[in-house]
Amino acid sequence: MHTATILVVDDEALIRWSLTTRLKEDGYRLLEAENAADALARCREGVDLVLLDYRLPDADGVTVLKQIKEADPDTLVILLTAYASVDTAVEAMKHGAYHYANKPFNVDEIALLVEKALETTQLRREVRALRATQARPYSLDRIVGVSAAMAGTRALLQKIAASPASTVLLTGESGTGKDLAAKVLHYASARASRPFMNITCSALPEALLESELFGHERGAFTGADRQKRGLIESADGGTVFLDEIGEMVPALQAKLLRFLEEKTFKRVGGAADLKVDVRVIAATNRNLQDEVRQGHFREDLYYRLNVLPIVLPPLRERREDVPGLVHFYIDSYNTEFKKRVRGIEAEAMLLLERYPWPGNVRELRNAIERAMLLAEGDTLVRADFQTLTASALHLTDRVDLPAAGIDLEQLERSLVVQALERTAWNQTKAAALLGVNRDQVRYRIEKFQLEKPS
Ligand SMILES: Nc1ncnc2c1ncn2[C@@H]1O[C@H](COP(=O)(O)OP(=O)(O)OP(=O)(O)O)[C@@H](O)[C@H]1O
Ligand SMILES: [Mg+2]
Repeated sequence: MHTATILVVDDEALIRWSLTTRLKEDGYRLLEAENAADALARCREGVDLVLLDYRLPDADGVTVLKQIKEADPDTLVILLTAYASVDTAVEAMKHGAYHYANKPFNVDEIALLVEKALETTQLRREVRALRATQARPYSLDRIVGVSAAMAGTRALLQKIAASPASTVLLTGESGTGKDLAAKVLHYASARASRPFMNITCSALPEALLESELFGHERGAFTGADRQKRGLIESADGGTVFLDEIGEMVPALQAKLLRFLEEKTFKRVGGAADLKVDVRVIAATNRNLQDEVRQGHFREDLYYRLNVLPIVLPPLRERREDVPGLVHFYIDSYNTEFKKRVRGIEAEAMLLLERYPWPGNVRELRNAIERAMLLAEGDTLVRADFQTLTASALHLTDRVDLPAAGIDLEQLERSLVVQALERTAWNQTKAAALLGVNRDQVRYRIEKFQLEKPS
């Protein structure tokens, strides 16, 4: 902890002397000023706390207080006044004074007040430092990927982060980075120093989810023996991340919609409309449009959420992102496991680039983690990814062409048919098996004039 610097501002030399003498005993560094102009100049030297006389020859204390706070909101100010009135005290506190003390004062009491005040700033600094280290893992460049899709996602996130509120809907298969995107968005925004609150809508039964989200009043239901603030209220100024929104029951969907439209809500069992300022980020790996069509999800809520949709494409549709992710995870597991893996052999990388990654980036991360734990040498090799080759669909880098040649179209058709049959004609799943996207499957269904057996 650094030695705190205290500035004593008073036009009376005796008061300056008694305070500085006493505070030096406590080990602080002391500066003095006898008027406002001098005080402001000395503040620029970096002052932690100011003991400020209310009556100065060239200005009144509140004006100086305001100027000190403007220059550095972290500077603590204790106002000393001989004309104690409630009004002055209120005025001083309103402008950010930490405390005020009446003249004549007891120097020991002032010393105690100073000690307490400095503890507060120290804590505040520590909290901020912690927040900064927490936020750093979620800077924009944490989203790895050179594909156009990922570059676009980063740009979009940056733009939305800079804008004040707007609700965001993140969609994408499991493991594509929805959680990550939500955190990046929060920490890149002006809301970063405020809370990021996260709830998984499918994890709780309806009644509990409602009270978690909106809070409840005392006696709202059996067991509600005290009032409780909900997540939305606690996140004021920050972000609420509603994960698996597709799983939210219709009754709650209605309440959420009301909140999004009116920015107000009621605690469970409460009558008052409470107002907060939060950004809602919703995420789902379901196709919400389908959910709407099937009547599981309110259409109006869907449209309200879908103002700013961000789609995270599956990894198999952006294979060019694989090498970057592989190196990113090699680096981070080197640090975590204190390993010195230098890289990955070309053949192994080829395998990873061709693998369809049904579990997307999460699966890739796990594969690298496992390989790094098993790796014997300083390079990852194909054998380190045996689980992938074992579950191999058709990962062989090389299919030997029979001497008599083959019918390529026929082979392709047969594979597409097998994939469709195995997945009961679920085109998305079939696409995953084939390592292509759904449009490419659709295209082939038409090309080969395949028909779903009835
Ligand atoms: N583009 C990316 N760059 C770096 N890491 C990523 C990227 N996308 C995802 N990840 C990482 O992959 C893992 C899974 O991502 P995340 O938890 O965000 O997925 P999700 O879309 O929320 O999945 P689910 O639907 O299962 O909740 C996390 O460890 C995340 O940090
Ligand atoms: Mg998630």
